[in-house]
This record gives sequence, C-alpha cells and structure tokens, in this order.
Amino acid sequence: MAQSYSITTPIYYVNAIPHLGTAYTTVAADSLARFERMDGKDVFFLTGLDEHGQKVAESAAKNGMTPQEWCDSIAPKFQQTWKDLLITNDDFIRTTEPRHMRGVQAFWTDLYNKGYLYKASYSGWYCIHEETYYTESEVEEIDGEKCCPECHRPLRFNDDGEENWFFKLSEFQEPLLKFYEEHPDFVQPNTRRNEVISFVKGGLKDLSISRTTFDWGVPLPFDEGHVTYVWIDALLNYITAMGYGGSEEEVKNFERRWPVQYHFVGKDIIRFHCVIWPAMLMAAGLPMPEKVFAHGFLLTKGQKMSKSTGNAVSPQDLIKVFGIDAYRYYFMTDVPFGNDGSISMERMVQVYNADLANTWGNLCSRAFNMAVKYFDGKVPQIDADKYAQLEQELGNPLREIAEGVYASYSEKFNNVDFTGAAAEVSKLSSRANSYIEEMAPWNLAKDESKADELAYVIYNTLESIRLIALYYAPWMPQTSKTAYESLGLGDVTEVTTLEDESVWGKLPAGNPVTKCPALFPRLQLDDISLD
Ligand code: MSP
Repeated sequence: MAQSYSITTPIYYVNAIPHLGTAYTTVAADSLARFERMDGKDVFFLTGLDEHGQKVAESAAKNGMTPQEWCDSIAPKFQQTWKDLLITNDDFIRTTEPRHMRGVQAFWTDLYNKGYLYKASYSGWYCIHEETYYTESEVEEIDGEKCCPECHRPLRFNDDGEENWFFKLSEFQEPLLKFYEEHPDFVQPNTRRNEVISFVKGGLKDLSISRTTFDWGVPLPFDEGHVTYVWIDALLNYITAMGYGGSEEEVKNFERRWPVQYHFVGKDIIRFHCVIWPAMLMAAGLPMPEKVFAHGFLLTKGQKMSKSTGNAVSPQDLIKVFGIDAYRYYFMTDVPFGNDGSISMERMVQVYNADLANTWGNLCSRAFNMAVKYFDGKVPQIDADKYAQLEQELGNPLREIAEGVYASYSEKFNNVDFTGAAAEVSKLSSRANSYIEEMAPWNLAKDESKADELAYVIYNTLESIRLIALYYAPWMPQTSKTAYESLGLGDVTEVTTLEDESVWGKLPAGNPVTKCPALFPRLQLDDISLD
C-alpha cells in the first residue's frame, strides 16, 4: 500500500480548554490536510491530548477530581471545538489510552535493550509548568527568586536526590548535526533551523526521562515506581497513534503512516521536536520526520495569547460573529505562517469585509443573480468556435490569470505558505469583480446582438467562481461547498483530483445555477460584541 501523507499537531495539555492559540495549529494542519487530500494524497492527519504529568495531576486535584476524571472532562471540549472548526483529523490520540501506554512501554524496552538508558540520581531546579529541569546557569532571577527561563514562574529545587533514568542524548550531538546538514529542510522556517543548530552545537546533556515523585504517567516497564517524563510520553504519541508497538496489522499501518511529512508545532516547543525527538528516533532506528514547521505566536496587544495571561478568547466566540470559514481564512492568511502576528477584532473585520464580503461574496452574488436573470438559471452555452473568436476579439483576462493559479498555489500550499497561496486565489477573485465592471453585462443584456458576448462574460465569471471555490476550499469548506452547489456541481470537499479540476473550461454549459444567500454579509465593527 502507498505511503500516507501524514501531518500532526502537538497534543494539547488538558490543563486548559482550547483557545485561539491551540486552534491556530490545528486549523493550519487541517488546511494542509484538506489541500493534500484534494490534491490526491492519502492523508493521515493526527491530533490529540497530552494527559499525563504533574501539571495535569495538580489541575485535577484543584478541581476535586482524579486525574483520569479530569482528562475525561476536558477531552470532549477539545473534540467539540475541532468539530466546530470543521477539523478533519483522521485520529485523535489521548495519552491515557492503552494503545499509547503500550507503545511507550515498547519503546522503552527497545531503548533499554539497545543500551541507551541508565539510572543516576538527580537534583536541580524544576518547573512544573514546563515540566522541565533547568541548570543553575539557565535559571532566571526575578526579585531574588529563581524562575523559569521559559514561563518566568518560580522554580522548585528538587534536592531529594531523586533516582531517575536517563537517555544518552549527549551521544546524538554529532549525528544530529550531520542530519541537519544533510536535510536542510528538516527544521522550518530557516531562522528556527539556525536556532536549533546553534543549540545543539552548544552541547547536549543526557536527558532525565523518568520521575518518581508522582505517579500520573506511563510506568517504565523495567523499573516499578518510575513513570515516563511527560514530554517524552507526549512525543511518542506520534508513533503510538500510528500503530507502533501494536499488533501485526497496526504495525503495518505504522509503516505506511510513518514518517510524517509535517509536524506542525509552535516555536516554543521546537527543541523537543527538533533535538530530543529525532535523537529518540535515531536511538530506536526509526525513520526521521520529513519536516518540523514551527509557527509563530498569535499576539493580542503584543502578548502571547493564552489562558494563563488571561486574554484568551474562545474560537467559538469568534465563530459566532464571523462564521467558521471566515475565522479559518483570517487566521490562516493574515499572519504569514511562521511569523508572530498581532490579531485584533479591528483587523479581522477589515480582512473579512475586504477579501470576503466585498470581493469573494460579492462576486458570487452578482454572478449567480445574472445567470438566473439572463440565462434562466443555467450556465450559458457557447459554441467552441464562437468562444475562440470572442477570446480573440475581447481577450480573456480571467482565463489568463486562472491558468497560472494551480502551479503557484499548490507550490505555496506544499510549503505551507498559506498567505501566499491565498493571495494567488485573491488575484482571480479581484480580477473577476473588476471584469464584471469592465464588461458591464447589464448593458450587453440590453442589446440582442450582444447575446454571445453576454454569454461569454457570464460563462467566464462563473468559471472563475468554480475555480476560486475549489482553491478556497481547504480554508473555507462551507462557503466553497455552497458556491459549488449554486453552480450545480457536486461536493467540492470530496474532490481528489485538484490538478485536473483546475483546467479552465470544465464548468459544464447548461448546469443549473441558483442564487445563494450572501456568503459573507458585511460586518460593522461597532455592532460586534463578544458577550
Ligand atoms: N503538550 C505540549 C505539546 C506536546 S507535543 C508532543 C504543549 N501543549 S500546549 O497545549 O501548551 O500547546 C500546544 C501548542 O499550542 C504549541 O505548539 C503552542 O505553540 C501552541 N500555542 C499555544 N498558544 C499559542 C499562541 N498564542 N499562538 C500560537 N500558538 C500557541 O505544548
């Protein structure tokens, strides 16, 4: 069986409910998954939840629940949010599932047998929030208190000489540097690659991979009382969900789905994914992921948006105002993927009105109305010779643009340049609007001798709409589906031959055309309230 095109998101901590930041990674992965499916790939798109560790155990205790009860209460909130955002993940892994626990233990047994693990005592500064130990030199002092260099929270000193198991990460410094050298695309964007390389060049210490101070984790199969360090447990989700450590059948699935084409992660967790994870895979002799793409942070008034900074807006709040498609479009196209970006209600309304209400939505409503009015609700029929003659006489600017879109759009999509890919589609949508102005079909309709010209103009506009709906579908599946239905076409989200569909002139003459309700009704900032 052919190899899958696999895409993953990080698995999210269950200490918070989903917010715009976590939805960002998931919508990005979904947009790519939808595009690749439309482009004919056998996609496996994985997301899930990170349910172990001290932080989760503490959240559960605070809420008067057992850790498992707590996880079970949060998991449906994530699943519902992904439904609300039309996320098409193929699997949803929870690290408390038996398939995951079994896979983690199989991994440890393998590394233990290969001699990559050893036991030693450990003390040091520990951050519960980041679930990470820091050395004296890494620690940040704030008002005389030792704080976490990542999240700036106070650290705890674990000096009980806790016995931990260690992974011989230091042995992988040279192999990793060689790997980055030979695979220049592994870490993306390039700024992140430089960051990773200089970190590894600075030297790697062995990594403590077990804890004994709490028990909410996957037990090490060879040492009772030790549970797996939550970050290692979490990274292994990528392979356990695909079938690693399972039955013969599951292992076959694993071999088909692994390695991934893309791990999507936020820039804060790049070291785990670009240093520790590949070293673990090397130790186990497993293939490397193709690419790890680190996106930036969404900032509101300059701050990372997260629950703990208190500025978290829920995706559902925004969907109520903008609709699902516009939500997805805004987040995926306004901030170039890979950069940090400020988001605001003002900007969201501006993009919504400019790109969607005034351009794409307006185009659909004008063109469908005219097809109904002038052609009795049918895609106009023009004889091929006549069409060629009119092209000579009047030119065909929409076709000229449309014929270049697939190549650049798909190249950009494959490189997760969502902003660039959307701009290719917008070119066609803006030009189609100005084409209507220029050709003034309402004047052509007044003159019977211009019937062919009218048919020509309306056909070209409708055909452009077909293509725009097709290309917008990975971000805006609902409205693209509506536009397709109005053109008498099938379900655009089920297209698997994007390149064939991108050929100009595929819209069948005579297809029924119906008016559709405004795809994106105009919005006024002053009318919006999130309460
Ligand atoms: N559980 C770990 C990941 C383990 S993956 C093997 C984790 N979880 S998280 O829930 O804290 O964050 C998950 C992802 O959400 C990270 O990639 C993080 O960058 C992203 N975001 C959280 N807030 C964000 C923004 N405000 N903006 C963009 N993405 C951010 O880390």
